[in-house]
Amino acid sequence: MAAAFGIERVGVVGGGQMGGGVAEVMAKAGLPTVVREINAESAEKSQAGIERSLAKALERGKLDENAHAAALANLSYTTEMADLADCDLVVEAVVEAFDLKAQIFADLDAVLDSSEAILATNTSSIPIIDIAMSTTRPEQVIGMHFFNPATVMKLVEVIPSVRTDASVTERITGFTTEVINKTVVAAQDRAGFVVNMLLVPYLLAAMKMYEAGYATAEDIDAGMKLGAAHPMGPLELSDMIGLDTMMLVGETLFEEYGDASYLPSPLLKRMVAAGHLGRKSGQGFYDYR
Ligand code: 3HC
Repeated sequence: MAAAFGIERVGVVGGGQMGGGVAEVMAKAGLPTVVREINAESAEKSQAGIERSLAKALERGKLDENAHAAALANLSYTTEMADLADCDLVVEAVVEAFDLKAQIFADLDAVLDSSEAILATNTSSIPIIDIAMSTTRPEQVIGMHFFNPATVMKLVEVIPSVRTDASVTERITGFTTEVINKTVVAAQDRAGFVVNMLLVPYLLAAMKMYEAGYATAEDIDAGMKLGAAHPMGPLELSDMIGLDTMMLVGETLFEEYGDASYLPSPLLKRMVAAGHLGRKSGQGFYDYR
């Protein structure tokens, strides 16, 4: 039987919290998935994170023993881009740095065997067209924006650029809905798409409120959890997203729209400079050590 939407084997470039989550989602949907990391240490860390999450899913009854074993068997890890050659879909999920993404897409363009292969980026704010133009096949490049934690969050924003082939958008929309069972929101290729355009200024405003000494971190978070029924307050959510990511997304949105509400506050910049990146570094607005 032909693979659904022509996608039989998936590659994920960057196995951090987003890429690891995306790889886990693919593997659980029955797709052989190869995660490419920059070095052996990062690849091991990625594998350990995914395996921890799969173990949690088993423990919570989200997966049975067979599905857990099948997901593990679907996953492999590499440091070589060439090991992605036979993938039909590659999702890039590295940090929000244009030059790095452009290089990765140029490399993927060179190694992918199939002319039908789709190159997707999980960028939250960089224009898809800029990334697409670093390849010789911009019609095969699309935005596929997952939300953290990707294993739990039900949404994927699908963002074609002005050069994306309509058949590629259709394949990714069908695949996301029917194979990995997420809800698709279609967005235009503008920085922030739908969700971050609304969410990021709110999170940055909470940081500015905290920095001004207007309320404590705990009270700001409690305010939004108990007063607006959000599952997490803005500062704990920023810690989960990663403060380096928050800063980069804010800067990209500012560059696109020139609106000062997107600018990272001095405190955010200082926290990032100090290596206080939120949960992943053990310290952010809260202490996780
Ligand atoms: N695998 C599968 N399922 C899992 C899991 C795993 N590893 N870990 C947890 N789950 C399931 C749990 O079983 C539970 O399912 P249930 O509701 O059916 O029982 C559900 O996920 C919630 O898990 P927990 O009970 O452990 O945790 P909480 O109830 O505390 O919820 C949370 C955690 C889902 C993170 C919730 O706090 C939340 O939704 N927070 C907001 C997240 C958010 O806004 N994300 C978007 C960030 S923006 C972004 O990513 C864009 C980027 O570009 C910046």
